[in-house]
Amino acid sequence: MEGACEASLACTTCHVYVHNDYVDKLPIPEEQEEDLLDLAPFLKENSRLGCQIILTKELDGIELELPKATRNFYVDGHTPAPH
Ligand code: FES
Repeated sequence: MEGACEASLACTTCHVYVHNDYVDKLPIPEEQEEDLLDLAPFLKENSRLGCQIILTKELDGIELELPKATRNFYVDGHTPAPH
């Protein structure tokens, strides 16, 4: 899984599907996460941004699935400037 923006909630490259057994164990997503997920391709009801999932003992064994593609709008089309 890529995390292009390093968990700063500026991309959706960390998009994951959370197994149904674990969806209700996660805190409700913040509005900013919801807004980003709306931009993620192949969105499902159990979609979350993986970088926002903080592992706890309750989440031991969590199963995540990756979507078939992600869109990195954080850098897609970006032309790097010389340093
Ligand atoms: Fe960019 Fe998760 S790594 S939002």
